[in-house]
Amino acid sequence: MTTLDDKPKVRAGWRTPAALYRLISSPALRAVLGWDLPRRDVKWVRREEGMTCLEVGSGGGFYTAALREHLGEGTDLIALDPAGESLDALRDKLAGTTGARMSYLVGDGCKLPMPDDSVDALFYGYSLEEFPDPLGAVLEAQRVLRPGGQLVLFLWRPVITKGRRMPVAKLLDQTFDRQQHSAGPQNIRMRYIKRAR
Ligand SMILES: C[S@@+](CC[C@H](N)C(=O)[O-])C[C@H]1O[C@@H](n2cnc3c(N)ncnc32)[C@H](O)[C@@H]1O
Repeated sequence: MTTLDDKPKVRAGWRTPAALYRLISSPALRAVLGWDLPRRDVKWVRREEGMTCLEVGSGGGFYTAALREHLGEGTDLIALDPAGESLDALRDKLAGTTGARMSYLVGDGCKLPMPDDSVDALFYGYSLEEFPDPLGAVLEAQRVLRPGGQLVLFLWRPVITKGRRMPVAKLLDQTFDRQQHSAGPQNIRMRYIKRAR
């Protein structure tokens, strides 16, 4: 197993400026440019009966309603973000939507407030780019996922440049089994599975 001592160094995270975040979060813009379609993209997370999925860095929740609907009743979706006010806004935004049972957790993706092997799926929609320690976050994902659990990561190329991305990709490939990968002009989407011990 990869440990914190083995991990390569990577430059600390970045904070997406609010105006840029608003621009890239505009559903119309994302759809017109063909970057992101929430109802299509959330299918990267494979639905399993009774599963618990943790969305790490849920922010404004561009994907959350679609993910909730995709997972469906009888599953749990936990939205986690360090910004409590984003979670409050997300709770309001999701009122009236249906699907997975929702809960909201203030927390840090680099130090997840979850026990080992406790989560069936982790979803990061353009959030890992902002974490102060993306490599630590990958190791946290490995810790909290159950063996066979899914790690689905969407990265936005303009924010996570090649120099910052490569150590993350290397650690992911060392730590998990890669199942699916797509690289478009703006986005990289990845799906990994935690190895059985
Ligand atoms: C570009 S936004 C994306 C938000 C959301 N996934 C979306 O697509 O609407 C990045 C998010 O990562 C969150 N974030 C930053 N540092 C984090 C950390 N250490 N742990 C968890 N989330 C973090 C920010 O609060 C923000 O909500």
